[in-house]
Amino acid sequence: MMGVCAVDLALGRGKLNLRHGRIIKAKMKTRTQSKKVNKAWLNDHVNDTYVKLAQKEGYRARAAYKLKEIDEAFGLVIPGHVVVDLGSAPGAWSQYLRRKLSPRKATGGGAAAGELNGTIIALDILPMEPVEGVTFLQGDFRDAEMLNRLESALTSRRADVVVSDMAPNLSGIPSADAARIVHLVELAVEFARKHMKPDGTLVVKLFHGGGYDELVKLFKATFRIVKPIKPKASRDKSSETFLMGRGLKSSGES
Ligand SMILES: C[S@@+](CC[C@H](N)C(=O)[O-])C[C@H]1O[C@@H](n2cnc3c(N)ncnc32)[C@H](O)[C@@H]1O
Repeated sequence: MMGVCAVDLALGRGKLNLRHGRIIKAKMKTRTQSKKVNKAWLNDHVNDTYVKLAQKEGYRARAAYKLKEIDEAFGLVIPGHVVVDLGSAPGAWSQYLRRKLSPRKATGGGAAAGELNGTIIALDILPMEPVEGVTFLQGDFRDAEMLNRLESALTSRRADVVVSDMAPNLSGIPSADAARIVHLVELAVEFARKHMKPDGTLVVKLFHGGGYDELVKLFKATFRIVKPIKPKASRDKSSETFLMGRGLKSSGES
């Protein structure tokens, strides 16, 4: 929750004034308001349909339903796929992918354990409780060493799908935070260019206001098909949104 609020503030929703002095005032105001915001958020959270559904269906976070909706809208993941999950902790997207790549039972959804038809490689800077069948790598996606480990885990295969729910730690300084968000998305695009199949799909989280237009341009220059999506499970109040890019353009293709 703090991440989302911080992101909204970072992107100017908190009306932080960039001039020296006003920043401090705005920060103090933000702190005194934070208790109220926390209470309101907790209230919303407890009554949230997706939180209840996540508890019922055994997902670690309501975020699972964002990926589910994106998957259902674009037909992202099919059995046999190699999927890379960037910014995976606490693991709800990995859980969703795990179930999606399990052979379907007569009752409907795939199983959370057992046979797995495909590969899921998850990565996060934070630790993550294991998800059965998912290869988890802990480290910073911005580090070259982490990229080497990710490449090794792919064992010369290319990914069919790369999903990124990465959200950076924020400083509260809008321009710096927007730059961090842009940087993570740019790295995800670069990774997709190098390690995704030509007809593969990349989905990234980004934020309205935080270099959004610049990133749409980058997507359009990189992929044949580009679609924005704001899943219902993504809170209206949040500036969070997602971009899907499918089919890598070859060099020289406009
Ligand atoms: C919103 S959470 C992801 C939730 C996850 N998709 C799920 O379903 O449980 C964002 C994650 O991005 C991770 N993250 C942020 N910056 C990162 C980086 N540079 N490298 C790796 N992970 C990063 C954070 O640690 C955090 O766990």
